[in-house]
Amino acid sequence: MPTITSIRGLEILDSRGRPTVKAYLELADGVTAAASVPSGASTGKSEAHELRDGGKRYHGYGCQNAVRSINDTINLSISGHSIENQLVLDNYLLDLDGTANKSQLGANSILAVSLAFSRAMSVYQQQPLYHYFSYLLKQRLQYMPRPTINLFSGGKHAGAQIPIQDLLIVPMQSSTSEVLECAYAVYQAAIKLCQQQYQMRALTADEGGLAPPFKSITEMFEVAVQSIENSGYRPGYDVKLAVDVASSHFYQDHRYYVTSDGVSGAQMTQLLTEWVTQYPIISLEDGLAEEDWTHWTMLQQAIGSECLVLGDDLLCTNPGRIRKAIDQNSANALLLKVNQIGTVSEAIDALMLARNAGWKVTISARSGETEDDWLADLAVGWQADYIKIGSITQSERLSKYNRLLEIERELQLKIKN
Ligand code: PGA
Ligand code: ZN
Repeated sequence: MPTITSIRGLEILDSRGRPTVKAYLELADGVTAAASVPSGASTGKSEAHELRDGGKRYHGYGCQNAVRSINDTINLSISGHSIENQLVLDNYLLDLDGTANKSQLGANSILAVSLAFSRAMSVYQQQPLYHYFSYLLKQRLQYMPRPTINLFSGGKHAGAQIPIQDLLIVPMQSSTSEVLECAYAVYQAAIKLCQQQYQMRALTADEGGLAPPFKSITEMFEVAVQSIENSGYRPGYDVKLAVDVASSHFYQDHRYYVTSDGVSGAQMTQLLTEWVTQYPIISLEDGLAEEDWTHWTMLQQAIGSECLVLGDDLLCTNPGRIRKAIDQNSANALLLKVNQIGTVSEAIDALMLARNAGWKVTISARSGETEDDWLADLAVGWQADYIKIGSITQSERLSKYNRLLEIERELQLKIKN
């Protein structure tokens, strides 16, 4: 590895028009690489700290301090050194920050540098980024990840017109190109149905999902199933469903406000179990709140054999929380978002813990994204079972889908069944 000559940060804007961080890393032999980081809206309490400026500018969302972390602290301490691998760099960044949740330098600046280093290494080694990521895990590339694609949104990603955050379709075809063709057909059928039933234009939520004013959660499921049928595909065979309930965001004083009076944890578990019985749901994310460990275990016992019990806010890609969930049998799948933990190496620890416990892994984008496409390389390189990018509208989502198409053409691999 040649000497790193400079590391620079830039404040850019994400898909919500809010600032985020891009890092540029330059090597002595002239290689330069850059990477930008996403940002969540429906965040878990245990996520690494995203450094924001506060104050009036961008309603407090400014990232000038995070950029300063890169230009000053990180650049001054690392430039001029030759860093031999990803783990050495990431440990160096952790030491420089010195806090448990990266609040000194900011997880946004740390991750931007960690990812820019990954890209610089792949350019330096003249290999695609997915190969670099697979090499970190000594992972053979055998299949493509299966996309789970947002159809309808509510909660914090839309106007909270329904409490459920995302209803996703999971097309079951064996190639990314067929999956996207199917997703387009279902999405168009859903637009038509929503125009008829709600007289609405195709208004979209943060991740490009449609956000009609459903009268109930049941209605959302029924319209999804009907859209699949109207598109000529068979619900439960050609297209299955996934749900991100994101229930931490309507949980208060031990009650889940799926209705105005709210329900108890046991009743919520029962309701989730009924959904899985009634609809072709293969993945249920954050069905319960991030601190409601008891009911997570009950849910895993009830539906874990037929459906992914997927932890996002529950786990926050945090090895400590994943270990606890394995010990308590609280879930059977990890939603991996690299910026929840803040370095590539720590995300590997999270992934390996989940894998060794026999869990499935979904690698996910955030609701605030940039046009950077590293997520597709990461999901292939780390052989994720599923990838969650959002809907098939909006360029910050399509950059990743289009990158998956490129990788699929290069590797000639199928999606795992
Ligand atoms: P976020 O949501 O990126 O807004 O946190 C995505 C999710 O909950 O999966
Ligand atoms: Zn989620």
